[in-house]
Amino acid sequence: MDNNIIIPKHIGIIMDGNGRWAKKRMLPRNMGHKKGAEVFQDITRYCNELGLESVTFYAFSTENWKRPAEEVNGIMSLLKEYLIKAFDYEKENNRIVFLGDKSAFSGELLELMLDIEEKTKDRTGMTLNIALNYGARNEIVHATKAIANMVKNGEIDIDDIDEQLVSDNLYTKGQPDPDFILRPSGEKRISNFLLWQIAYSEFVYMDVLWPDFTRKDLDDAIIEFNRRNRRFGGV
Ligand code: IPE
Ligand code: IPE
Ligand code: MG
Repeated sequence: MDNNIIIPKHIGIIMDGNGRWAKKRMLPRNMGHKKGAEVFQDITRYCNELGLESVTFYAFSTENWKRPAEEVNGIMSLLKEYLIKAFDYEKENNRIVFLGDKSAFSGELLELMLDIEEKTKDRTGMTLNIALNYGARNEIVHATKAIANMVKNGEIDIDDIDEQLVSDNLYTKGQPDPDFILRPSGEKRISNFLLWQIAYSEFVYMDVLWPDFTRKDLDDAIIEFNRRNRRFGGV
């Protein structure tokens, strides 16, 4: 990539279009998820090469449980497979964090998630956030309850509640807000992703379906981001 291009610190990616990719090829939807998982792995590596501080992938939303059981089970098996592979990221020194309500998971998958978080927590490279059973409204409710409990227990006063305290009680605590949100697949909506954190993010929508997404597409998105003039309310 051109030397003048500024590499963002944190990109949020809504991995969308797996189902349509499969449908176009007359394949079962889960084949789209499988190809999407491979692309996830490659794009993660590329984010490391580019030197991002963090990247957040939206992998499964709190709303995605509405899908047929066969599809949900297929996604969960892929998750296990790719989480195990995530250990290969050792060379890349990623800190892996799962954003979302983990109480929906149990058994092998939950153990794997906790184990990966524990084993990678002191790594110094890029933070790789994987949003699983993630919903921004759920996250805000979770933070609200945690803060209400602090008030109830007398740890803080109502007047101590400020934007920083809210941020510190989100699943993304301690992380920079995303510079931009990238959504492939042609949909132009946010679908309950990072509502608090995107207050000043740029939005880049692309027509490519996630399983067809390439390193070049990420370059293009970063170039588009570089064309934006961010003002944060100033002049
Ligand atoms: C994104 O692809 C993957 C998940 C939401 C788990 P979709 O499965 O939503 O693909 P489309 O939108 O139906 O094409
Ligand atoms: C958003 O995609 C969630 C993930 C990519 C994990 P969806 O495909 O679920 O979003 P909608 O239903 O089109 O809004
Ligand atoms: Mg979709």
